[in-house]
Amino acid sequence: MGVVGTDGGLNVRMSVIGTGYLGAVHAAVMAHLGHDVLGVDIDLARIDALTHGRPPFYEPEFADLLTAMVGTGRLRFSTSLKEAAQFADVHFLCVGTPQTAGSYAADLGPLTAVVDQMASLLGAKDLVVGKSTVPVGTAAQVSLRLRRPDGGSPIVMWNPEFLREGFAVADTLEPDRIVVGGQDPEGRRRLREIYAPMIAAGAGYIETDYETAELVKVAANSFLATKISFINAMAEVCEATGADVVTLADAIGADARIGSEFLRAGAGFGGGCLPKDIRAFIARADELGTGPSVKFLREIDAINTRARERVVAVASAMLGGEVAGRRIGVLGATFKPDSDDVRDSPALDVAARLHAAGAVVCIHDPRGLESAREAKPQLEYTYDVDKAFEDSDLVVHLTEWGDYRNLDVARLAAVTAQPVLLDARNALNVDAWRAGGWTVRSLGRPRR
Ligand code: UGA
Repeated sequence: MGVVGTDGGLNVRMSVIGTGYLGAVHAAVMAHLGHDVLGVDIDLARIDALTHGRPPFYEPEFADLLTAMVGTGRLRFSTSLKEAAQFADVHFLCVGTPQTAGSYAADLGPLTAVVDQMASLLGAKDLVVGKSTVPVGTAAQVSLRLRRPDGGSPIVMWNPEFLREGFAVADTLEPDRIVVGGQDPEGRRRLREIYAPMIAAGAGYIETDYETAELVKVAANSFLATKISFINAMAEVCEATGADVVTLADAIGADARIGSEFLRAGAGFGGGCLPKDIRAFIARADELGTGPSVKFLREIDAINTRARERVVAVASAMLGGEVAGRRIGVLGATFKPDSDDVRDSPALDVAARLHAAGAVVCIHDPRGLESAREAKPQLEYTYDVDKAFEDSDLVVHLTEWGDYRNLDVARLAAVTAQPVLLDARNALNVDAWRAGGWTVRSLGRPRR
């Protein structure tokens, strides 16, 4: 694929409604392509930060892009949907669809609220493009809600997003594929125009109906979750037999039909997408009467929970079954490295479980401590990685930040009560740790 440039493209005025990881990055990348963009959110503090070029979350490369795009004048922010309707005739919906409390289903309340407010503001000239991850059938519902009795209804298209946190700018700028759902020829033409630089750079471009587009997104995330839970199930079998899951993953991943990505065994998947997306899919499939066909996703979810429980069980075993009163250092709080996101973070969940079992838990994370403290105020946090090691009976590695690969492990062994490490992400050089005086256990790898 070539490099996506800013030159020669058509300039479109657009609004991007919802400025979370998805919306804020999409807005900045659209401005980078040369479009005039108004980002809209109900969160005043967030809009204020973005307006001043300050990212409301940590995402590599985003701060520089945001500052540059705000500087060009092509990227502005507002809390007003009315302003969005007046300014633009293309509106991307990037509103979050979190899991509903007490249910597996996605909470479409925030998305519906935006759509209903936009309904009276939009007309036949407008194109509404949904990017949020939604249960299949939502795009048709959105289209109905936006239908005007006078016939001058906006066009609705669905265009799911596949960016990964930590790579959000690169993934948005140079996607491997763009999927557009909706049959309207004018909607299709306008989206081709908007994405022209990416198509020219070689991104795959797939035009389909609403339902397929919606399902591509949840199917992709379900498949990724399945790969992770599969390898975590293998890790447990490896551990019971003395086999090595890292070598196993390398060996099966060398088969191009399987592929080596998403076969890293460890504490399992978390974040704002994979866990809630498979649950929302299960809930929607039940509504459709196709629940039995995706029943395996319940198992994927259960294996994922089990992965967290296993970390706690192995940690406890490494402490001779005595967790209460022991001091445990935790490396990592976020659900993955290069993000400050702690939503459904396996690291934070494991730390909280160890704390609940009576351990004194001290958590280090390079970026996620503020959100972690907000989510789990009962835990102890430190920006000084040494503190997580001091007087510890056990150190558990739970988020594979690059920072943890270059620690002076021999020096740190000396500040612990006992130098014992559980690498729950299989990402550390365990030989180097052992050479530095540590007793090390990994998940799914042979014990020494
Ligand atoms: C995921 C998808 O990868 C994106 O394609 C998608 O666009 C996004 O959700 C979304 O729906 O918005 P993300 O949530 O940023 O992206 O995170 P991933 O990189 O998928 O990682 C998810 C979790 O799986 C993390 O907790 C990570 O540690 C874990 N993981 C990943 C493993 O345990 N093993 C692996 O081999 C890979």
